[in-house]
Amino acid sequence: MTTVLKTEELRKQFGDLVAVDDVSLEIGGEEITSIIGPNGAGKTTFYNLLTGVLEPSSGSIWLGKEGDLREITDDPPHEVARNGLSRSYQITNIFEGLTVRENVQVARITHEGRTFDFRSRAAKDEELNEDVDELLALTNLTELAETPCETLSHGEKRNVEIALALAIEPTVFLLDEPTAGMNPTETREIVSLIRELDEDIDATFVVTEHNMDVVTDISDRIVVLAEGAVLADGEPREVLSDERVTEAYLGSEA
Ligand SMILES: Nc1ncnc2c1ncn2[C@@H]1O[C@H](COP(=O)(O)OP(=O)(O)OP(=O)(O)O)[C@@H](O)[C@H]1O
Ligand SMILES: [Mg+2]
Repeated sequence: MTTVLKTEELRKQFGDLVAVDDVSLEIGGEEITSIIGPNGAGKTTFYNLLTGVLEPSSGSIWLGKEGDLREITDDPPHEVARNGLSRSYQITNIFEGLTVRENVQVARITHEGRTFDFRSRAAKDEELNEDVDELLALTNLTELAETPCETLSHGEKRNVEIALALAIEPTVFLLDEPTAGMNPTETREIVSLIRELDEDIDATFVVTEHNMDVVTDISDRIVVLAEGAVLADGEPREVLSDERVTEAYLGSEA
């Protein structure tokens, strides 16, 4: 397994509440990992630590390709993103008045703007258009390219969010409940999109999800968080038949 993301005893306390409890995890580049757990288990907080949105109370975070990991624990969110950790943003991140293509262009220009080079303006424009076309095709948005985002359905906007997150060419792509608020058709579409992307691009997907059908369908590996700590970690069949996992979910409904 080539590790692309690693945490060492990562911890976050809010006062007396331990939201993330010394989590040590290594995410392999070749697998889709799901992070599951009852409400309040610490999944979103864990993502917020990884992406630099929250500062850890202790522990460290490492990110990189081909086993070449570098520490990102203290990096601010824009640095973390630039270094290859992307997250599907909330729909509010989309510019409603702009078309799908314009939104993807903005994301791409913002990312490119951070890299200094000597290519001519025309060459850059051509490359930008090619990159945007490719991102639109990857996320099944080619036919909606000229549509203003404010007229898109919830499911279509989720695809735009994914295109924006891919615009930074991530090493690791975190999705927080990608099927939340979606109907069964939209859910099936997003699941097959994630699988296609996993085949087509070089990013590693990490997904948090409450829909167990989705989890079973897309995961190569499942990590269960309960009260901030790793309760189980392994192959889907093994993890989902673990009594402690069932109990953690039942306990949360009591
Ligand atoms: N900014 C904060 N200040 C104080 N407590 C917080 C804060 N953010 C999260 N928490 C608490 O940390 C715990 C973990 O919350 P978190 O949102 O990470 O859970 P989750 O696993 O994402 O849950 P869900 O499945 O409902 O999305 C909860 O008890 C929550 O109330
Ligand atoms: Mg959450």
